[in-house]
Amino acid sequence: MAVTRTFSIIKPDATRRNITGAVTKMLEDAGLRVVASKRIHMSREQAEGFYAVHKERPFFGELVDFMISGPVVVQVLEGENAMQANRDIMGATNPKDAAPGTIRKELAESIEANTVHGSDSDENAAIEIAYFFKPEEIVG
Ligand code: TYD
Repeated sequence: MAVTRTFSIIKPDATRRNITGAVTKMLEDAGLRVVASKRIHMSREQAEGFYAVHKERPFFGELVDFMISGPVVVQVLEGENAMQANRDIMGATNPKDAAPGTIRKELAESIEANTVHGSDSDENAAIEIAYFFKPEEIVG
């Protein structure tokens, strides 16, 4: 299997509860390496652009409001098949449906305040990484 990169966001519910370290430990324990990381407070425009694929969905407005309700930590993760490894440790979108041991099962508050974002394809990972990071900010 190839070493690849994916994009992660530790969401405002996690920064508010001061559990970014706990989330990152679960990522690292799953074999992922944080090769870029920064704490930012997204603007509305930035969040709307990031989630543009969801703009026709009923939850779009609330999702954007939530994502700008506090700081987030954006990260680039590297590892064997990083996108899938991250999706596996994240767990299902709704924490009620997430498997035990996953970040969302153990730490998330609700389907909206679900602690982490992770790219859902290698193609989207590349787009999302480039949305937040310059190449020189990623140190493998
Ligand atoms: P989605 O891409 O379907 O899930 P995932 O984050 O697991 O890839 O949805 C993006 C985010 O939108 C999700 O993390 C939380 C939010 N969301 C809601 O608030 N309500 C919903 O019903 C859904 C499906 C998503």
